[in-house]
Amino acid sequence: MTGPTLRPATIAVTAGRPPHDPDQPLNVPITMTSTYVATGDLEYGRFGNPTWTAFEEALGALEGGRALAFASGMAAVTTLLDLVGQGSSVIAPQHAYNGTVAALADAESRGRLKAHLVDITDTAAVIQAMHDDEDCAFLWLESPTNPALEIADVPALSAAARELGIRVVVDNTFATPLLQQPLSDGADIVLHSATKYIAGHSDVLMGALVVADDEVHDALKARRGLAGSTPGPFETWLALRGLRTLHVRLERAAANAAELARRLADHPAVAEVRYPGFGAIVAPVLAGGADAGDFLVRATSLWVHATSLGGVESTFERRRRWKLEAATIPEGLVRMSVGIEDVDDLWDDLVQALDRINA
Ligand SMILES: Cc1ncc(COP(=O)(O)O)c(C=O)c1O
Repeated sequence: MTGPTLRPATIAVTAGRPPHDPDQPLNVPITMTSTYVATGDLEYGRFGNPTWTAFEEALGALEGGRALAFASGMAAVTTLLDLVGQGSSVIAPQHAYNGTVAALADAESRGRLKAHLVDITDTAAVIQAMHDDEDCAFLWLESPTNPALEIADVPALSAAARELGIRVVVDNTFATPLLQQPLSDGADIVLHSATKYIAGHSDVLMGALVVADDEVHDALKARRGLAGSTPGPFETWLALRGLRTLHVRLERAAANAAELARRLADHPAVAEVRYPGFGAIVAPVLAGGADAGDFLVRATSLWVHATSLGGVESTFERRRRWKLEAATIPEGLVRMSVGIEDVDDLWDDLVQALDRINA
């Protein structure tokens, strides 16, 4: 039972479960099969799987749309970009996840589409860019952006895009459906790297798209089957297991993040703290630049120097260590994925390292 009256925490726990009938398992089992007995609805493992269906029901209920599971966030990105008509353009954030920017650049280099990168915090300029670009098919938003933590005005941009017949995609990986529901803000398609908060334990790669429109859903489902960008049943089961505790994990991680953002702002080694006021990613910019960042990530014992984010454990990295990262991201920016440990232990570990920078 997942009617519209249920609150997100209840949906996270209950959606996509088998019916409450005698001897039904509480959890949908992992269906490990590549094929099904013929003449039913599924037929073949690339077309459907009961474990996917359970995950898709739960995520769809949280986002307020129909979900499709993908092999990774990037599989969702590239499958979605396949829907952009030949020669059309995509307006996207200059500081979107660098894999997304790379996928756009790759498609552009093959003559598939044109990519137009913008500052998504400048709402008026983005609306003007949509008016100026007659070929624009998609407005691609990511809010907050990775790793700059910029915020887009999703309702205003979606309303302007709708008037121009432009579809709006929102990468909701950082906010999760608990902190932002782009479909109810007027967007058409929500994208997730489910690898991050949704699965939540740094043990699975998965992605998802969620849409309101049935035709777009069917087009994406067909494209997923053609591209073979489908997840494994075990990965999907892990992601659904993770989703069951999303609200509890996020609440704790976000409380830790807000507290660390406050404490970091007062430390002399920190020039600036980027934190949008919600969520569990904090990005201090160290006054000592790249050297200070490289020192910090090696000088802790609790915080793990690792890429990715959204797990129960706290991890961090200096983003400019990646060649693909935009040159406009400060050298000293350290993206912190705050976990659910005790906040004082996290701070003690950080501060002993920060105190030794330039010491
Ligand atoms: C915001 C965002 N979108 C998409 C992706 C890509 O997802 P995946 O790594 O699951 O392919 C990532 C990965 O870091 C991300 O941070």
